[in-house]
Amino acid sequence: MMKNAIRDFPKQFDYEPEVVNGEKLGAFDALVVGGMGGSGLVAGILRMIKPGLDVAAHHEYGLPPFIKDTKRRLFLAVSYSGNTEETVDFFEAAVKEGYSVAAVGTGGRLLEVAKEGGLPHIELPETGIQPRMSLGFMLRAVLKLVGENALFEEAGALSATLKPGELEAESRKLAETLRGKVPVIYASRKNQPLAYNWKIKFNETGKIPAFYNTFPELNHNEMTGFDVNDATKELSERMHFIFLRDNADHPHVGKRMEVTGEAYAKRGLPVTALILEGTSTMEKIFRSLLLADWTAYCIAEAYGNEPEAVPMIEEFKKKLI
Ligand code: PA5
Repeated sequence: MMKNAIRDFPKQFDYEPEVVNGEKLGAFDALVVGGMGGSGLVAGILRMIKPGLDVAAHHEYGLPPFIKDTKRRLFLAVSYSGNTEETVDFFEAAVKEGYSVAAVGTGGRLLEVAKEGGLPHIELPETGIQPRMSLGFMLRAVLKLVGENALFEEAGALSATLKPGELEAESRKLAETLRGKVPVIYASRKNQPLAYNWKIKFNETGKIPAFYNTFPELNHNEMTGFDVNDATKELSERMHFIFLRDNADHPHVGKRMEVTGEAYAKRGLPVTALILEGTSTMEKIFRSLLLADWTAYCIAEAYGNEPEAVPMIEEFKKKLI
């Protein structure tokens, strides 16, 4: 049940993953993380918590085209179900090329290939939650696999510091504000994974349209789409903008958010600024994501939508077979 998945989320950081065939993980200087949807999120989070890490996110079939260089790369496939065809294809292509690989998932074809080939992998606990709700398990697993021990420990501490219950009231209020609106989430480029996470939680849990963009890029294009006049007013009056503000952003990005917020308000466009709170980047990320989870959950409730399952995705996947 979604409500329990949110309340119990911090416990995921207690997870002690076991790396199978870990001795086969060679040395590497760069990571390519392949994953889709909820399972693709961990790549962005990894980049946020360790900006110096050379990590490329691959959300596609096959392999990225840049791999002809001399870097020693680890190709890491993450799929909660283990049956996502793009991710399995990515993994099999990397295996075929003889690259260094690893897999993370609860089972499925992905882990079958990893087990048959005696390849490094981690089998995630199957607790019945949705992939987008399993970011704690996935992050702990990936940090363990790539040997980021200090970050692994830091993530472990979140099980005590995150307090989902304390965020419910604030989220409920935000969900009320968003009633009848299409949320558009804005963040700095650095926090892009966060804005994207918010968006997909509104889509998959709330079952509503939601979009995102990042500063400073949006000041060069998207913003002008909201230079509302009488003829276009109808197009933008459904939007409600959420600005994820971060004191660690480039000061000019902070200024851009302020000026954009004022420009939107002047045009009658509603803006809610949410300041990322926490004592570390990791805490800021997961506190904000819990707010997103609760808000999306309350939105689903308000519209009478079932927050957990994603029948449209399941139905779509079946049609591809
Ligand atoms: O949340 C979801 O169900 C989806 O976004 C899935 O994560 C996505 O379809 C990929 O599936 P999996 O996570 O099993 O690889």
